[in-house]
Amino acid sequence: MVPEELISAAAEMIASAKSLVALTGAGVSAESGIPTFRGRDGLWRRYKPEELATPEAFERDPRLVWEWYKWRMEIVFKARPNPAHEALAELERLGVLKCIITQNVDGLHQRAGSKCVVELHGSLWRVRCTTCSYRSRVEEPPREIPPRCPICGGLLRPDVVWFGEPLPKAATEHAFRLAMECDVMLVVGTSGVVLPAGLLPVTAKQHGAKIVEVNVEESAITSIADVFIKAPAGISLPRIVEKVKAILQSG
Ligand code: APR
Repeated sequence: MVPEELISAAAEMIASAKSLVALTGAGVSAESGIPTFRGRDGLWRRYKPEELATPEAFERDPRLVWEWYKWRMEIVFKARPNPAHEALAELERLGVLKCIITQNVDGLHQRAGSKCVVELHGSLWRVRCTTCSYRSRVEEPPREIPPRCPICGGLLRPDVVWFGEPLPKAATEHAFRLAMECDVMLVVGTSGVVLPAGLLPVTAKQHGAKIVEVNVEESAITSIADVFIKAPAGISLPRIVEKVKAILQSG
């Protein structure tokens, strides 16, 4: 159980922020039943994400990579946003949270009602052709894999960022601008080991921001956190938001 004082300390920082930005990782979706990447249940068959989420793996065996994505899409398709996603959407509605920067590709922040979401690693719900410039949104997991381009017949790939690939330029620039300009960054459910996303809290801190972290265990970010809340996001974020509301009403 997280002490009330820590929840209050986080809420005070958040309520008094002039520019609050959230950075989220797989942990924010864990309570929706979506496996994290580096947790024990994060493995699919015997593969690590670093072995499947690469251009080389796709070139070698597109069917295998698509099987993994189809498995993940099916889980996300059946999942629902959890109280952590809802709490962040509520903070935006309250005018407290400016934007979420997410490493997640599941689209659950948007499904919970968040409007400003910067997707650093792309989306499971978009595909693009490896041969021509065709891009499309997808509503559900593909029936046949690997799916083919309706224009040129080329192989379609998920529109996500794989290891060794550059991040989308506009999203990355937006994220770093937000990190430099915020005065509080709320970091939720990320191991912080994947770069450049892991550098965002460091950038924020270097520009004078306070860091509030929510994670079930210590991460690469914890050493620079001003408040560290060691608890599941789906339990602690709603508590923080209730406190923020009380502070806003009383002030
Ligand atoms: N509440 C809060 N934090 C949680 C919860 C929870 N319920 N469950 C797990 N966590 C934490 C874990 O302790 C861990 O620190 O979430 C973090 C998940 O870490 P990773 O699996 O490494 O996910 P993430 O940091 O998002 O990975 C970054 O790596 O494979 C790539 O592109 C992929 O976007 C992903 C990137």
